Parts: sequence; structure tokens; C-alpha cells
Amino acid sequence: MPTALLVDDDHVYAAALAELIEQENYEVRTCGGVRQALTELTDYVPDVVLVDLLLPDGSGMELVHKIESLALHTHVFVITAHAELDSTVAALRAGVEDYLTKPLDLQHLRKCLQAARAETSAGAEPRDGPPKALDGLGPLVGSSSAMRELYASIKKAAPTNMSVFLSGESGTGKELAASAVHACSDRSDKPFLAINCGAVPANLIATELFGHERGAFTDARSQHKGYFERADGGTLFLDEITEMPLELQVQLLRVLENRCITRVGGLREIPVDVRIIAATNRNPRVAVSQGRLREDLLFRLMAFPIAIAPLRRRSGDIGLLAEKFLRQHNEENGTAKVLTTEALRFLEGYSWPGNVRELKNAIGHAYILADDALQPSHFPQGVEPAIEEDGALLQCLPGTPIEQFEKRFILATLDHHKGNKRRTAETLGISLKTLYNRLNEYRAQS
Ligand SMILES: Nc1ncnc2c1ncn2[C@@H]1O[C@H](COP(=O)(O)OP(=O)(O)OP(=O)(O)O)[C@@H](O)[C@H]1O
Ligand SMILES: [Mg+2]
Repeated sequence: MPTALLVDDDHVYAAALAELIEQENYEVRTCGGVRQALTELTDYVPDVVLVDLLLPDGSGMELVHKIESLALHTHVFVITAHAELDSTVAALRAGVEDYLTKPLDLQHLRKCLQAARAETSAGAEPRDGPPKALDGLGPLVGSSSAMRELYASIKKAAPTNMSVFLSGESGTGKELAASAVHACSDRSDKPFLAINCGAVPANLIATELFGHERGAFTDARSQHKGYFERADGGTLFLDEITEMPLELQVQLLRVLENRCITRVGGLREIPVDVRIIAATNRNPRVAVSQGRLREDLLFRLMAFPIAIAPLRRRSGDIGLLAEKFLRQHNEENGTAKVLTTEALRFLEGYSWPGNVRELKNAIGHAYILADDALQPSHFPQGVEPAIEEDGALLQCLPGTPIEQFEKRFILATLDHHKGNKRRTAETLGISLKTLYNRLNEYRAQS
């Protein structure tokens, strides 16, 4: 049975409208305000949302924008009085399908509900169309149970102010997940800033994060606001947190505890309201045991840990992702190239050590080579079901720890490319830096 969420604080009107919607064979839930509706939508995506524009705790448009930013594929109708014509026009521009006026036009309501139902059932298997609600969250695509769990965690974490700690292999989508947490939070209209702690030289990270006062050092000709101040009210994404120098980790912990920063060369404490999301593609516990990450900082950041599964454990998502990347190329270039069933099967049989990033690159590569249909032969050379190890196939028994398998895979690929690190990183779809980090780790272990 199709479902509808009715958001209206006028109880008498809502009860009458709910009854009419039920007569159209919809199951109806009602709620009286924006907050309550947002809570409902965290674990329930109705086929239709009907929302009054004037609600006691805000405007119905807030809900409309939220539904849009979450990419919830639901039909949205606003309920308005005639006097609110301007806001109705704005709502229609924001993607609302139609509006219902008060007092109610019964015919119109029926037409809207019937059209929504027809489209929902017709779109049950949209192979090329936009994903259905549970096939994605904002920019994230995937309908595997691992991805659905990820969406649920993101939606749970988002409305809180807790720090989120994202772990997962390189290319699994940590940065995208971080931006989804921000987009689903109350901070979504404030900045989302990302800093890669591994990419900024150690001596510059402090000034990048906390800013500096004029004259703090020779080149400091003017005062500079750091990431914390620029992200005020919003979210700061600290990528590759294990690469942050230890003394700075102490400072960061202090900032998280006191919610104040001091610019380099300054004395004044400046209050900041910033939500932190940190990420690493290393095992954070191992990073602690190696002395790269302070345990007290990890505990502080781990308020809400989220692990993203590697693509090989959710190969059911490969089709949706490949279609999405191909659609982007087609839209950009005005083409209509397709993915053949053989190519899809081929992609699903590969282990994707570079995860979604590698898949995205592989689709880009094949798109260029293919005339109209992407075939297995169009994929880059590195995309082979397995790589040879001393002339034999690299074999692994089920139950082998991922880290061990990853190490053998990386070393075998390096051998395959006769020690060429750039080529190895490209084939694996990981950054050169990540490859160096892994090789250093292996060297330290031996
Ligand atoms: N679920 C997904 N749906 C759509 N695109 C995705 C998804 N996951 C990852 N991507 C895309 O794959 C690429 C890599 O993602 P991202 O940069 O978020 O990975 P990462 O985990 O931060 O990697 P790294 O550890 O190397 O920094 C990006 O282009 C991103 O848009
Ligand atoms: Mg990243």
C-alpha cells in the first residue's frame, strides 16, 4: 500500500485530509511540525509528503529543502492558503510537484495522489532513472545492506553534534559520507570545510587550522583566519587524521574540549562552534599502537564511529555505481553510451582494491574507448580478475584477514609493474601517498 506523510498543525483539517487520503488507499501518518517530520523521515520514506507551509516551528519549505538535500525520492505537495502565492511559486521552483489549496479541492487532491501512485508503481524498476530512496543518500549511491546501514548511521549521527569518526579503505567514500552527515544536519546551511592532514606540511597545519595574527612569523603580514573560524557554525572534515603531527593532536584535543581556539601568535581565546568529522584509511587502533594517533584524541573523536565497507564486500552496488558514473559522462557530453551485461559481469567479478574511486576511473577510461557500448575490453589493463604472483594466480582462502590480503595484493601489483610505484598506485586506484604509507608500514613490520 502506498504511504503518505501529512505535516499540518491544524488537527481538525489534518484529520479530515488524512481520511480523504486513506480513501485513495494510502496509509497515512500525520505530524504537526517540521522537527517531528524530520524525525519521521530518518527511518521512513513515504511515497508522498503533503506539507503545510506555515508550521508552528518553522516553514514547510525547510522540510522541502531537506527532502531535496537528502535526495529522498518522494512526491512532495505543499498545502497553502491563497494569500501565500509567492511562497507557493518558490516551492514549485524548489521541486515541489504541485500545491493544494485551503479550503480543499477534493478533485485536485485525488488527481495528485493518483498521479503520484501511478508514477511510483511505474518506476518500480528504474534501471536508468534516478535511484529510488533506499538506493542512495544525497550523493552516495548503493543499495547493499552495508550501504543501507551506512545511510541509517549517517541519519542517526547527523542531527547530533557528536564527532564522527569514519574509517574505511582508500576510495570507499569517506569524504562523500562526511559531506552527507553535514548535509543531513542542522548545520547544512553553514560551511563544510575539508582539510587533508596528510597533504599539508607539518609546520603549516597549526596556522591552517587555527589561523595566525599579524606578525606571528616573518611572512605573516596580515591576520589570517584558520579552518576552525571559517567553519564556525558548520562542519570541519579532518581527513587522514593519523598524519597530523602529535603535538598538534594535543592542541586539537584541547580545542575539542574547550570549544575555543587561539590563533598562532595570539593570546585571545576565540570561541568556535564546529562539528568535527575525522577520517582515516588506516586501522585507527593500529595507528594508536604505532604511536601515530593519540589514544585520548581517538576516544574523543570516536563518539560516533562509522566504518565504510570496501567495494568487494558490496559487489551488488557495482551496477548502480557504474550506471551513475556512466550517466554523468553521457550527460556532460550529450551521448547515450550503455554498459553491456558482459561488462557489468566483468566489473562485478573484479576485487576493486581502489574501491569506488577505481571503479569511477575505470568507467571514465572505458567511456572514452567505447563507441556506443562499454565492453570488457574497454576497461584499463589493471582491471583483471586477479594479478599473477610469481607466475601463479594470487590466491587467498576465505577467512584471510583483509590486511594480509591487501598487503599481498599491493606487493604483487608492485611486482607486476616491476617496482614502478606511480603505475602501481594508478592500477590500484589509490593515491601515491597511500601506497608509500602502506609500503612504509610493511617495512616497519619486517
Ligand atoms: N557510494 C558512492 N556513491 C557515489 N560515488 C561515490 C561513492 N563512494 C565513493 N564515491 C566516489 O568515489 C571517489 C572516492 O570517494 P572519496 O574521496 O569520498 O573516498 P575516500 O574514502 O575519502 O578516499 P581516500 O581514503 O583515498 O581519501 C569520489 O569521486 C566519490 O565521489
Ligand atoms: Mg578522502
